[in-house]
Amino acid sequence: MLADYFKPELLKKIAASAGTPVYIYSKEVFLRQICAYKKAFSGLDALFCYALKANSNRALCSLAAGEGFGADVVSGGELYRALRAGFKPGKIIFSGVGKTSDELAYALRAGILFVNAESFEEVLELEKTAARLKRTAPFSLRVNPDVDAHTHKYITTGRLGSKFGVSFEEAEKIYFYASGSKHLRPVGVHFHLGSQIHSAKPYRLAAARLAAFILKMASRGVRLEYADAGGGWGVKEGEQMPSPKPLASALAECFKGTGLKLIVEPGRSIAAPAGLLLTRVLYRKRGGSKNFIVVDAAMNDLIRPALYGARHPVALLGGASGPLKKYDIVGPVCESGDFLAQEAVLREPARGGLLALYSAGAYGFSMSSNYNSRLRACEALITGRRSWRLIRKRETLRDLTAAEL
Ligand code: LLP
Repeated sequence: MLADYFKPELLKKIAASAGTPVYIYSKEVFLRQICAYKKAFSGLDALFCYALKANSNRALCSLAAGEGFGADVVSGGELYRALRAGFKPGKIIFSGVGKTSDELAYALRAGILFVNAESFEEVLELEKTAARLKRTAPFSLRVNPDVDAHTHKYITTGRLGSKFGVSFEEAEKIYFYASGSKHLRPVGVHFHLGSQIHSAKPYRLAAARLAAFILKMASRGVRLEYADAGGGWGVKEGEQMPSPKPLASALAECFKGTGLKLIVEPGRSIAAPAGLLLTRVLYRKRGGSKNFIVVDAAMNDLIRPALYGARHPVALLGGASGPLKKYDIVGPVCESGDFLAQEAVLREPARGGLLALYSAGAYGFSMSSNYNSRLRACEALITGRRSWRLIRKRETLRDLTAAEL
């Protein structure tokens, strides 16, 4: 049970000291997830690049870096965070469909492992940038293997017709072009099918296509070193991550004999189970046939229920009475889409009671905003049975206008 790692007494103590809403992470769970990847891929030549987009708090990133993980970044901002958190530049890869020339220059100056390019024009921009800096740019191409991973439509990326990657034909042209350039060095090939994938089947399909392509390119003189299989294993809200062993086995099988080093970029499966959002009950009310619990966290803190229909399990920390009923848990934001849970079955919580939303460690704080000029939440890390520390302070009213001229 995830709840075992988040003892109610400690959560209450954190809320009393740090206030609510607060994101609370467990160091133990975060490290345990990292360990699960290491174990599942042991014996394989693999590099794990933690996807910072899931949760880029420096304290968590430093834990991943300390375990030998590299980083997958998708903006100059994430690259900055990755370097500050202590990820080795030689283990950082830079993905994303629209990197600017400035971002490419930043990455080349930092000496990252490679840039995951997504179009011919981006590769030309990379070449120009490398020439200006008098360097050779190592890069990998994100190909679109046209495999449906059957996940939410907003987070499925491996079908032709999505904005991501290039076709195999286009990739071939780009590699041949790059082979003749003194400022470009093709080192890898990459795919990312989407997020929340629970089956090895789409990976197997895509990796087999990629492996055939790699061998074809090698026979034509383009020798690549890295096969990057994108994001990590899916993990259902409220549950532990099943072992990523099937993913490891599928990739090992497909890339056997290619001599390539494997890269995996897990984000969600490392951070999601390691975090929860703790919020306080402000009011209870009825609206028509519905029961509402109004809390002090909102869609600006956790947008996943509103955006993807995600269902984060809810737990009350003491102080509930009456029969079990269905409640919508809503925040103070002025939109009907502002809900954190719908039809959660609970006893009526007391005003001022605490409510935890589990599996919120990934794409929770990192997708939060100041909408409705709400202050972004603080973040805390549980470091031992009874110990914790603040790893990001709550924003203040001054922060809201600090950048305005
Ligand atoms: N690599 C690439 C190129 C990606 O685009 C992503 C996620 C990852 C790695 C990490 O995938 P993961 O291991 O986390 O599944 N905001 C959405 C998820 C968006 C995922 C975007 N890309 C959510 O809250 O469900």
